[in-house]
Amino acid sequence: MVRATSLDEMTIVVVGAGKIGSHHAAAFRQAGHLVSTVDPSSGADWDHVARVPEPSSVDAWVVATPTATHLSVVCDILRRQPDARILLEKPACYPAELTELVRTVRQHPRARILVNDVYSYSASVRRFAETVREHSEFDPIRKITIEFTKNRDFDVAHGRFVDTQYGEAGYEGFHMLSILRAVLSADAYQSYLYTVPASVTAEMRVRTSAADLPEIELYTSSTGAIAFADLAGFAFSADVFKNYIEPSAVPYGVDLRYRFADVELDSGKHVTLVFEPFFGSEDDYKNTHVVYVHDGRDAAPKPHLLVFGNHFKEALLTQLDLLHRAEEGHAVIRPSEHRFLAALGWAVGTGSFPPLTGADQYVDLRGNDEKLAQLGSEA
Ligand SMILES: NC(=O)c1ccc[n+]([C@@H]2O[C@H](COP(=O)([O-])OP(=O)(O)OC[C@H]3O[C@@H](n4cnc5c(N)ncnc54)[C@H](O)[C@@H]3O)[C@@H](O)[C@H]2O)c1
Repeated sequence: MVRATSLDEMTIVVVGAGKIGSHHAAAFRQAGHLVSTVDPSSGADWDHVARVPEPSSVDAWVVATPTATHLSVVCDILRRQPDARILLEKPACYPAELTELVRTVRQHPRARILVNDVYSYSASVRRFAETVREHSEFDPIRKITIEFTKNRDFDVAHGRFVDTQYGEAGYEGFHMLSILRAVLSADAYQSYLYTVPASVTAEMRVRTSAADLPEIELYTSSTGAIAFADLAGFAFSADVFKNYIEPSAVPYGVDLRYRFADVELDSGKHVTLVFEPFFGSEDDYKNTHVVYVHDGRDAAPKPHLLVFGNHFKEALLTQLDLLHRAEEGHAVIRPSEHRFLAALGWAVGTGSFPPLTGADQYVDLRGNDEKLAQLGSEA
């Protein structure tokens, strides 16, 4: 194998060829890269990272094994290729392993590691955040509400989406934080991650109220229990609204993902991003997202802009490009997001919120996040 010098054709090894790893492999193959897989279950090219031939010629690795194995797989890869470029599925690892993961990364100063962050590289989120900035310049943000609801009972029955450590927060929490990070200033976002929420409930609903922040409410349900039918229900067809959104319940086996981010400004104006609102009415609904700017009273606001594209695939290719171009030592793990989400899971289990202290950076371990952001904007 020969290590690529351009993005034309890279040699990529996907470790963990399950549900999400198969999506990685398909997306990279479709983009023209040479992909092989590692998985002890049948069908993969190799059953262990140690058996991958010529690891020094691998251009990028994807770690898409169960979260409990991420740290050991990353160690296996770095043992074989100390300057590896790794796209690591989220969560990066379990909360108790964060310190060890950070130590491992520091011991490999030539490696580049990104934790997969689809919504950070989503054109729809970027256009939404730009629209929010434009409209909030002289009309401050009063409230941010983000909901990610899906009925995952089918997946849970098949052993997926059962996170014993982050709990409900582990599935959509990272995505909701990525959207919040896109909308808030860096200082406000850091303050959010260190503010104990006013309330956390098991569904999960997280309300935060602090003097230096707008009101913020994150809500996610994996049983299909919709919380804010009024904030984005208008974007869906009349049938979808009547059957699932108005009753606030997505039944077992129905694929509807009710996902939106709504920013309410002091004037009462709303900027709302609705993902996949053409569910049930268009075949390619998964690749169309809509931003609305409206007064919150109009029953059928007109779209402000539509964003087309598969943001999962686009994010993978952008991050591959970032890994390829990033200087040695870039590692974006975001330990404090992991700690915040773990604290939510803890709060649900115990009724008390652990202190959000610690001097860890909420971004890049080596302070290179700004450079990565620049690379990202060039991509
Ligand atoms: N970014 C996202 O939106 C997103 C969505 C879903 C899951 N995930 C994350 O992706 C990861 C995988 O989730 P999934 O749902 O695809 O799980 P999965 O169970 O479908 O697949 C995991 C695969 O890894 C294999 N495996 C286990 N240990 C291994 C090892 N040591 N080496 C090689 N292969 C090994 C298993 O045989 C299995 O095929 C998890 O960390 C999960 O949190 C991310």
